[in-house]
Amino acid sequence: MQQTLLMLKPDAVEGKRIGRILARLEEAGFLIRRLKMVRLNPQEAQAFYRVHEGKPFLDKLVAYMSSGPICAVVLERDDAVAELRRVVGATDPAEAAEGTLRKDFGLDKGHNAVHASDALETAREEIAFFGLTLAREA
Ligand code: CMP
Repeated sequence: MQQTLLMLKPDAVEGKRIGRILARLEEAGFLIRRLKMVRLNPQEAQAFYRVHEGKPFLDKLVAYMSSGPICAVVLERDDAVAELRRVVGATDPAEAAEGTLRKDFGLDKGHNAVHASDALETAREEIAFFGLTLAREA
């Protein structure tokens, strides 16, 4: 079993799409292991997205991701990292495959409903970023 991190972005929270997105993930075989709703400040959003340092869209991304509450979710299943990327779909909802979360719930490239860890090591870091690594099972 593998764990990965999903973040429901402000557009998904504000748009009342948390329930539908989580239901789709459970139907896709993921077990929700931990879940936390927080509002990131700009420094925290910048730290979370530090891999995009220097990219032209970073400032807008940081401002957006700190504009309202987000929901961080630890999901578990076999091959969780790759499976979640597949279920989430391409960054731009307009280019995402039919049946993916971003196709069905994303608004545009910036407001694309969800973020998913891109690799196993990133998943570990992102789960730790939100303090969702617990010594004791929930
Ligand atoms: P996410 O998976 O959260 O990782 C970085 C985010 O930057 C991405 O989803 C998009 O929402 C956002 N973003 C905005 N503009 C771009 C862009 N031109 N290329 C890639 N990501 C972008």
